[in-house]
Amino acid sequence: MKLLVTGGAGFIGSNFVRYWLKNYPMDVVVTVDALTYAGNLENLSDVSDNPQYKFVRGDICDRELIFSLVKDVDVVVHFAAESHVDRSILDPGAFVRTNVMGTQMLLDAVKEYGKRFHHISTDEVFGALSPTDPSFTETTKYDPRSPYSASKAASDHLVRAYFHTYRTAVTISNCSNNYGPYHFPEKIIPLFITNLLEGKKVPVYGDGQQVRDWIHVEDHCRGIDFILHKGRIGETYCLGGDNEITNLDLTKKLISLLGKDESFIEYVADRPGHDRRYAIDFTKARQDLEWEPLITLDEGLEKTVQWYIEHQEWVNRCKSGEYKEFYAQQYGR
Ligand code: NAD
Ligand code: TYD
Repeated sequence: MKLLVTGGAGFIGSNFVRYWLKNYPMDVVVTVDALTYAGNLENLSDVSDNPQYKFVRGDICDRELIFSLVKDVDVVVHFAAESHVDRSILDPGAFVRTNVMGTQMLLDAVKEYGKRFHHISTDEVFGALSPTDPSFTETTKYDPRSPYSASKAASDHLVRAYFHTYRTAVTISNCSNNYGPYHFPEKIIPLFITNLLEGKKVPVYGDGQQVRDWIHVEDHCRGIDFILHKGRIGETYCLGGDNEITNLDLTKKLISLLGKDESFIEYVADRPGHDRRYAIDFTKARQDLEWEPLITLDEGLEKTVQWYIEHQEWVNRCKSGEYKEFYAQQYGR
């Protein structure tokens, strides 16, 4: 099989490329990535010599490039996106361009050439839960509340519209918060690990009582594998980690793993429109695909902390240049 992986130089995409080449060494993987601030060729340095792998730098909104790449593969696995909620609050336009218009460009190409398309989406499209609400399922009504989740919701709707209108061979996965190696240090887990390693405080938004469900990126990649091999065309699958935890409790776990104390916690202004709780019910994936997450949060966090300890130069490069401008804008410092 020949796959086109969009956004393969980002966090989940690069883990997926590595996962696929390891598990399906006869397959060919082509990655297209614009290498924004979040994309980094270093994330793929260990596969760059693999003859089954090819990297193309480019934008998913570039029609000529996308049509030429899609024509030549069997399946498109679509990760490319602007992915950070805080950045979407500062600049929604970039999110609409890549997440909505870029997805539509890819859909036009897969429709033209009759290819299979798997769309990577998020549980954030379903909005926010109260502490007692049941978890999100595939039939939960969409209620996105940040510019990021609204752009992902729009892209999900387009994917389903292409299935219903043109019978394009699509599947969608809505996954909870990922963590693991090569996670750009702007999201809570890698930001807090790297800050603590640098002896800096960690900025907890608001009261820290917001709940997220964390899934190790390897479990997510295996879920996508199962959907590509066993999923039904036109269907959506929710993938989750079965690890609901408040931001504050997560922060305390990281502090303890790094041998620090709670004086490293700094409560800062809350994120505007901050969603209180996300939680995923992945019964459908368990029943139809025989998939479930295998890595516990404690095990995954320990491995992740170790990875960041061993990759401090990678972190330093991520945390230079544009990153500093973003944080100056975000926190005025
Ligand atoms: P990321 O920000 O780490 O990586 C995104 C990649 O897309 C980068 O390599 C970037 O260079 C590339 N990209 C951005 N705009 C592009 C464009 N116009 N053309 C080509 N490439 C472009 O993101 P991630 O965390 O790896 O997320 C990947 C996907 O998974 C996204 O679609 C995201 O919505 C979804 N998702 C993420 C999570 C999570 O917890 N990170 C959870 C569920 C779903
Ligand atoms: P984040 O990692 O940005 O993922 P998402 O917004 O997609 O869930 O944030 C996870 C949670 O952590 C979210 O409730 C916001 C919170 N958070 C902080 O408290 N401090 C931070 O510095 C960041 C980046 C996030």
